[in-house]
Amino acid sequence: MINQETIIVLDFGSQYTQLIARHIREQAVYCEIHPYHLSIEKLSSINPKGIVFSGGPASVYADSSPLPDHRIFELGIPILGICYGMQLITFLSQNGKVHPASKREFGSSDISIDQQIELFSGLPKSFQVWMSHGDRIDALPDGFKTIAHTHNSPTAAMADLTRNFYGLQFHPEVVHSQDNNLILSNFVHRICGCQDNWTMSSFISEAINQIKSSTQGERVLCAVSGGVDSTVLATLLKKAIGDQLVCIFVNNGFLREGEPDQVMQTFNQLNIKVNYVDATDRFLASIDKISDPELKRKRIGNTFIEVFTDELETVGQIGFLAQGTLYPDVIESVSTKGPSATIKTHHNVGGLPENLSFNLVEPLRELFKDEVRKVGNELNIPASALGRHPFPGPGLAIRILGEVTRESLDILRSVDKIFIDEIRQANLYDEIWQALSVLLPVKSVGVMGDERTYENVAALRAVTSTDGMTADWARIPQDILANISNRIINEVRGINRVVYDISSKPPSTIEWE
Ligand code: XMP
Repeated sequence: MINQETIIVLDFGSQYTQLIARHIREQAVYCEIHPYHLSIEKLSSINPKGIVFSGGPASVYADSSPLPDHRIFELGIPILGICYGMQLITFLSQNGKVHPASKREFGSSDISIDQQIELFSGLPKSFQVWMSHGDRIDALPDGFKTIAHTHNSPTAAMADLTRNFYGLQFHPEVVHSQDNNLILSNFVHRICGCQDNWTMSSFISEAINQIKSSTQGERVLCAVSGGVDSTVLATLLKKAIGDQLVCIFVNNGFLREGEPDQVMQTFNQLNIKVNYVDATDRFLASIDKISDPELKRKRIGNTFIEVFTDELETVGQIGFLAQGTLYPDVIESVSTKGPSATIKTHHNVGGLPENLSFNLVEPLRELFKDEVRKVGNELNIPASALGRHPFPGPGLAIRILGEVTRESLDILRSVDKIFIDEIRQANLYDEIWQALSVLLPVKSVGVMGDERTYENVAALRAVTSTDGMTADWARIPQDILANISNRIINEVRGINRVVYDISSKPPSTIEWE
């Protein structure tokens, strides 16, 4: 962000790096994540008010341990090192010593403050923190003092008050820590002197200016899906460039009951004109007799590109494509575990073809998902659209295990409608991160009246989660589940058995395909 007071988080591979940045932004202070090897020139050009070293899985004394440019300590900028970050400060400073601890410390610990300094302002003398480390500080580097300890760590926090360098053995960014983000807030406000100027309204006005100046009166094309990101994206663009915005909504035929109408209604309410393209037949034909999930995804992705390319012919001259890229998509991640295998080809639809040579406009690329929602709120997007559960690009096609037909889509739509309606009725929709129904390719025996039936099984899945990376199955009360099951079996022809999925992720995934 231009002209924005910035805190930089250098990433040493911790699973919590994004949490640090999100919590700092919750303090209304702008924060960027960069890999630990960020050059000193680049860092100086950003001119940050403060630097945070994240944790990381390495040991500072290992051969290939990630190290920052040592000149970082000479910039006169406050530094907060968390866990591995604290060990790094120790290791790279005069006379500091780090060694494997005799006992690993993992989980909650009680910490006692030895010196009440600004970093601990507002905190009690003793509180609970989240620890996860195998190494510990054996000798403090020159200029540092111990400012807190735990039973196992004589130096659980340290400070060099002259240079404004701080080290924490624990993770203040983790929710289990009971400091309510006070430590991060104290660091960015009291020590780095940041003002509260990262607000969503300031983001919106700056984004509008940037969109206007970068698109220079040319028309911008935006594909919308009804999901949170594309809705916020289109609304922001509309505010910035008015009728220069051209929106397309492709109905791939794999949407939920009533969804195409709802999406069109929402955009109507937002006063944004959307070109509606019904490509149901084309998509359905593209996965005819296909049961392999990855092949389904690929075919659906390719069909989207074909439909989209055809639509381009009809919309006239376009200068830019808008994309709902978010901050987690652009952070250069530090992988200490090597490249991870492709588990599912996610986000292959809904995204736009890469081979189309348009200039891109990506106004959300600085935002985390929760910030996108806040922006949507400021832009008066209806809560129903902002609170919508995530829905995969290939939609119901990957919730019908095996071959997809019109009939199976109709059955699943009816099941899904009952499930979602009942969850809403029970006021559970907003507590659940994602709820979905799956049509299984098995038949089971049942009895209806005096007759034996041999029909399909529907599986219901509802999960709680914060980011979809891990998830637990939602504890929907049994009487509500009973009612949902009764309604589905009585009202949906073709289903005679309903099961509820009680697997968490990992090891299971959220979707079944
Ligand atoms: P899994 O099943 O991997 O899903 O636990 C995590 C999140 O990703 C969504 N998902 C997809 N989204 N295209 C998408 O746009 C896909 O092919 C796809 N597969 C899964 C899933 O709904 C969940 O929110």
